[in-house]
Amino acid sequence: MARITFQPNRRIYDVEDGARLIDICDELDDVSLSFGCTEGTCGVCELTVVSGMENLSRLTEEEKDYLLEEDLEKGMRLGCQIKVRKGEVVLTWKGNRAK
Ligand code: FES
Repeated sequence: MARITFQPNRRIYDVEDGARLIDICDELDDVSLSFGCTEGTCGVCELTVVSGMENLSRLTEEEKDYLLEEDLEKGMRLGCQIKVRKGEVVLTWKGNRAK
């Protein structure tokens, strides 16, 4: 099991190793992270990894295309692209924001 903390919602969930974040959020009705295209092109699901980046799936080509170098340095990812591989992960995000 992996453990994921959603800071904006002050919620902690135990999830299956390898679960897609978009599926996790789909099953929870009290998580405010929004999704748009679900394909890594709109940026609506942009979030910041506070800790546990090593426990997430690797950057996808879509994330490399969409996120700027400085975004990546700040720990930003696209929620629709990531899987929680194992361990503990802490995520935060702002409101909806498309670039
Ligand atoms: S939902 Fe569009 S980039 Fe993730």
